[in-house]
Amino acid sequence: MKVAIIGSGGREHAIFWKLSQSKLVEKVFVLPGNGGTQNNVDIDTNDFEQILHFCRHNTIELLFVGPEDPLANGIVDYFEDTPVLVFGPEKRAALLESSKIWSKKFMQKYGVATADFWEFDNTAESFEKIDELDGNCVIKYDGLAAGKGVFVCSSKAEAKNAVAEISKKYGEKSSFLIEEKLVGKELSLLAFTDGKNYQLLLPSQDHKQLLDDDKGPNTGGMGAFCPVPFYDENLKLQIEKEIIIPTMQGISNENFNYKGVLYFGVMITEDGPKLLEYNVRLGDPETEVVLPSLKSDFAELILACFDGSLKNYQMKFSKNYFVDVVLASGGYPHKYEKNYEIKGLQNVNESTLLFHAGTKKNDDKILTNGGRVLNVVSKGETLQKAIENVYVECEKIKFTDVYFRKDIGKRK
Ligand code: AMP
Ligand code: GLY
Repeated sequence: MKVAIIGSGGREHAIFWKLSQSKLVEKVFVLPGNGGTQNNVDIDTNDFEQILHFCRHNTIELLFVGPEDPLANGIVDYFEDTPVLVFGPEKRAALLESSKIWSKKFMQKYGVATADFWEFDNTAESFEKIDELDGNCVIKYDGLAAGKGVFVCSSKAEAKNAVAEISKKYGEKSSFLIEEKLVGKELSLLAFTDGKNYQLLLPSQDHKQLLDDDKGPNTGGMGAFCPVPFYDENLKLQIEKEIIIPTMQGISNENFNYKGVLYFGVMITEDGPKLLEYNVRLGDPETEVVLPSLKSDFAELILACFDGSLKNYQMKFSKNYFVDVVLASGGYPHKYEKNYEIKGLQNVNESTLLFHAGTKKNDDKILTNGGRVLNVVSKGETLQKAIENVYVECEKIKFTDVYFRKDIGKRK
């Protein structure tokens, strides 16, 4: 089978790596890919006409959609009458990620445990609510914002500034939410689904903030690890009961065409697990640790979502822990330079995985080409060992102004 992947980040390199190992897969293309992926094809991720043309011309049977945009723009619907299997939800179901308000209403309708929320498109009214909550709340822009539309606030001034920022950026009449602020530990759970059944990958944790101790501005993710030591069978059952099973009931009731991944961002609060958000795709950088921990044949798992065999699919996992440290360009997530040569890539040890993100090939050199440049992923029999291993490897890779967090996986 020939497969094409849409996207160009570390997530897509990890998908490329995993699919390339499948006994069912003959060739994997990446549209447009990066300096680490092979068989790159320079097509825009939202140019559906070109993508379809490419798939027809190259007899692609399976199209794996990495990022959320093409899903929110309806790529699954666009390919409906073609023989290509597109892995992802239809446009209607992608609203679970692309509209925060729609998604909260879905959670409410189906009894999914989540934070209380209030909906606004008017600054004055929202200020009354902010005063009532004494500024202790979370403000979320309704639409897709690449992780930059969420403001976790601790004071009235901070919350009102967040509302002002949303109005400035997205227009005065833009819709947003105010949410009850939850406290607890977070984890990411990724489910493969056929629209009725699901199979879970191992739990992981992202590190969204730029600086150690979860300080500084939010980023696309500075690292991840998996599995999460505090996740046990009891917690799994609770999350399934309170969050995943009601969600699947909703997806089934709404009759969504959903053969893809559903991501649950969960907070474990004193009152039990609550859902922070859905994403309708694999997370980045979570994918860079959860795919290495998956021992099953990846193409087989994906095809199980289409052929009715997912329900009884037996997932197989590694016993190791995996840690991913993101090497970023100095200055990211603000202004940064590109085109520095990355050196030392050949010095990492055999068991370390390098998933490229913002890189490009230039003759036989690899150059920086984005804010998050490279994911360095190591394993270990314990989380501690995996952390030690990954930091030894990070030191071997050099480029001008490289920056990475020193505390990935060390959260208490
Ligand atoms: P989201 O994109 O909705 O997951 O929000 C991004 C991040 O903001 C989450 O990973 C949490 O760390 C934080 N967050 C979102 N909603 C809440 C909430 N209701 N209470 C506390 N933190 C939140
Ligand atoms: N790691 C969070 C996300 O992919 O949205």
